[in-house]
Amino acid sequence: MIDTLKKQALEAILNAESLEQLDEVRVRYLSKKGEVSLLMGKLRDIPQEERPQFGALVNSLKETIELALYQKKQGLEDQALWVALSKEKIDVTLPGYQLYQGGVHPLNQVIEDMEDLFVGLGFEVATGPELENDHYNFEMMNLDKDHPARAMQDSFYVDENLLLRTHTSPVQARTMLEKQGKPLRIICPGKVYRRDDDDPTHSHQFMQIEGLVIDESITFANLKDSLLTMVKHLFGPERIIRLRPSYFPFTEPSVEVDVSYQKKDGTLGWIEILGAGQVHPNVLKMGGYDPKKFRGFAFGVGVERITMLKYKIDDIRHFYTNDLRFLNQFKGASK
Ligand code: DAH
Repeated sequence: MIDTLKKQALEAILNAESLEQLDEVRVRYLSKKGEVSLLMGKLRDIPQEERPQFGALVNSLKETIELALYQKKQGLEDQALWVALSKEKIDVTLPGYQLYQGGVHPLNQVIEDMEDLFVGLGFEVATGPELENDHYNFEMMNLDKDHPARAMQDSFYVDENLLLRTHTSPVQARTMLEKQGKPLRIICPGKVYRRDDDDPTHSHQFMQIEGLVIDESITFANLKDSLLTMVKHLFGPERIIRLRPSYFPFTEPSVEVDVSYQKKDGTLGWIEILGAGQVHPNVLKMGGYDPKKFRGFAFGVGVERITMLKYKIDDIRHFYTNDLRFLNQFKGASK
């Protein structure tokens, strides 16, 4: 009887085609009211002396069925996995995901290009805070509290003494104090702010690159040569520059610098690109340099202005509105 049951159970397990069917077999033979339990119930009808042997046989039957169920279950699970895997083939010919890659902003491209040039000429790159003290922004640059030239550089004030810097020139003063009377050569690119109504050529926020060189034997010729090198690097070797007398409180003499371009009729035209000059003795003195011993030159150039000229951009606001149709044109355009 036990043998017959064993044979039946093992056959049922062998023939189960799914996990569900296998579970039905388990219930039929091993559950509380299953065949094996019923068999165990028969123990009472058996003579006392045969009971241990009968019990052992039923237990061994139970173990055999359990083992067979376990092995079959594994087999069915493996099979199900293979079926699933074979259905989930990867189609390597499908197009991949495009990872969007941005580019360096045109203004930063120009700044990086200028940094490369000037570092090659022995300059260091200096930085200063955008939230600046009146002291550095104006007074150290020879613009006293009631200096009329302050009117051209109205800004955003946090309080009476703290403002968003109107130019990168305060970094001149900061660097001079830091260098403690030693010769220096720096450029300083950075953001500046003015209270201005935005239009195609004005923006309340823009960028400048400041330049400052101080040494014992600096002359105006050094300034002119540096500016010419910069202009040729930026716009091409055929360009020349023209210096026009001008006024800045922090330089004496001061100049405005024009760069040449060829007009449609073939004649030479000039476009103003920056301000420059020989460092004013007061600025040297306040920065801790003896004007009898040291001389310097300085310049300040608008990054938007030169970028607009270089790439023929018609509106300064393009730089600040994050329109990808504009920005994508400058991907990898540097140099
Ligand atoms: N700071 C001036 C401005 O923003 C630009 C400038 C002119 C800077 C002459 C200089 C300089 O260093 O020498 O209008």
